Amino acid sequence: MCGIFGYIGIKDNASEIILKGLKGLEYRGYDSWGIAVKINDKISVEKHVGKIGDAKVNLPKSTIGIGHTRWATHGGVTMENAHPHLDCTGEISVLHNGIIENYREIKDELIKKGHKFKSETDTEVMPHLLEEYLKKGKNFTESMRLAFNHCKGLSAFVAINTKSHQIVAAKNGSPLILGIGENEFFIASDASGILPYTRNLIFIKDNEMISLDKNLKLFTLPDGKEIKPKIEVITWNVESSSKENFKHFMLKEINEQPKVIRNIAENYEDQILELAKIIKKSRGTFFIGCGTAYYASLAGMYLFSKIAKKHVNTAPASEFNYLEDFLTKESLIIALSQSGETIDVVEPLSRAKRKGAKIVSIVNALGSTVYRMGDFKLLLGAGPEKAVASTKAYIAKLSILFMLANLIDNNNFKSVKNILLKTADQIEKIVTDGFENKYKNLIKFLSKKENVYIIGRGISYGTALEGALKLKEISYIHAEGLAGGELKHGPLALIEKNSPCIVLAPDDDTYDAIISNAMEIKARGGYIIGISSKKSDVFDEFIEVKETGCSIISQVIPMQLLSYYLALEKNLDPDKPRNLAKSVTVK
Ligand code: AGP
Repeated sequence: MCGIFGYIGIKDNASEIILKGLKGLEYRGYDSWGIAVKINDKISVEKHVGKIGDAKVNLPKSTIGIGHTRWATHGGVTMENAHPHLDCTGEISVLHNGIIENYREIKDELIKKGHKFKSETDTEVMPHLLEEYLKKGKNFTESMRLAFNHCKGLSAFVAINTKSHQIVAAKNGSPLILGIGENEFFIASDASGILPYTRNLIFIKDNEMISLDKNLKLFTLPDGKEIKPKIEVITWNVESSSKENFKHFMLKEINEQPKVIRNIAENYEDQILELAKIIKKSRGTFFIGCGTAYYASLAGMYLFSKIAKKHVNTAPASEFNYLEDFLTKESLIIALSQSGETIDVVEPLSRAKRKGAKIVSIVNALGSTVYRMGDFKLLLGAGPEKAVASTKAYIAKLSILFMLANLIDNNNFKSVKNILLKTADQIEKIVTDGFENKYKNLIKFLSKKENVYIIGRGISYGTALEGALKLKEISYIHAEGLAGGELKHGPLALIEKNSPCIVLAPDDDTYDAIISNAMEIKARGGYIIGISSKKSDVFDEFIEVKETGCSIISQVIPMQLLSYYLALEKNLDPDKPRNLAKSVTVK
């Protein structure tokens, strides 16, 4: 979380270069933003609360500066807490992505020494620490090394100093990428903002530090040993994305899903057969991911059991650290991630790698950290996903897992391809068939509710969880996804007259049991919204999703659309829901 962009070079419009870079990084956090540039021997800062949108910057000309988009961790969303932060002299400025776990004790020490703090952030200790080390006669690079080693937790810091006319950066967590241009350097949280200027990049590794003035120097941490930088010449392009004729990215991305499935059906056979071989050889396969990606991995576990007759394990990646004791060199970790930057995925992968386990990365973002960590890499090919709510990347993951489970069991690629293509057609119908008008009353009814329950069994269980997540994040309605059989073990106590319950009832071995669960809810006054190919008397509202042999993919679409239209009904921004960010790079 938090976007970082820095510039040092010969151009004198640093603040504009940085602003442009930050606009492309807003997906990492949009609570506030700020830019700091060097003006003579002091630093000038401009900060704003809220989204960047099409903001302009009013800072004077400068050839060096840093900028930040914030996703708040320590301290509320205020101007004071927006980055960059300054030291007492106004000559050092720092921005940060991550958490300084021991900031409280560092802050207390610094206050005792007379430092004045203006924010509630953990970050602000860093410029004051740097100031302390400079006072002791250390140079700026050495000061960063010492200050960084003083801090606990996973972080990336970028700092400027007016006296040495220098940028220094250090990290042990969030991504930092350095671009090397002609007499200029760029530093950013991802490559997209740098590639328009240069294709020569250095992906700064954890526990490395760089110093930029006229020259570039790279060091290891904590010891500060200088090492030779490895420059990678990037040949790929970062795909850009616009809303085209859609009102929001989320709606556009929902509409792109048929295209995403067709691409996988038509082009992925060879890669998936190769991956199937790797899985067959492994002794212990674990699918991990967070949020939507975790729900896809849960669906994968059911698909593997049902179709491939193979047991795989799954866990939210944020929990995998606590489950890794049994990993061996023969273990295979399959990481699912849209952004490829989620720290809760990156961290357990690093530990698994240290244990010698093999990593498969199934990601959407080319060149991302998770992508680069994979021994075997598979791209989702969904194209840029801009809306915070993941839609098409989820569908891509499910399509790949469906194909994989089938190709492990047999090589009948033709039938898998046909099922996927039929599913793509079916989804196209749902998204282009006037959903909003058709379900106008349902959208109105749900928009007034505080709680929604979603039940599914077997392969639809993960979909129930994913549907609930979509409703929560986009429409701010509390939604609970449940395994149908679990209702009577407690949650049924919550059902009262007109409690809305979405029932996922595909025409498979779960149908009868889930309909019985729906009856149990209805008997207590619940209002039943059935998503199924088969109508049932228990449904008060029926959303038809025709059976294509892969209901797991199509049944989530009505819930994506419901969430989207509920957000509109409630006057919310579906692309940038409150408190969230597209890329989650703090623990
Ligand atoms: C999905 O709608 C969410 N915004 C979120 O759960 C997301 O899926 C999760 O943070 C994982 O992100 P990743 O796929 O980029 O790793």
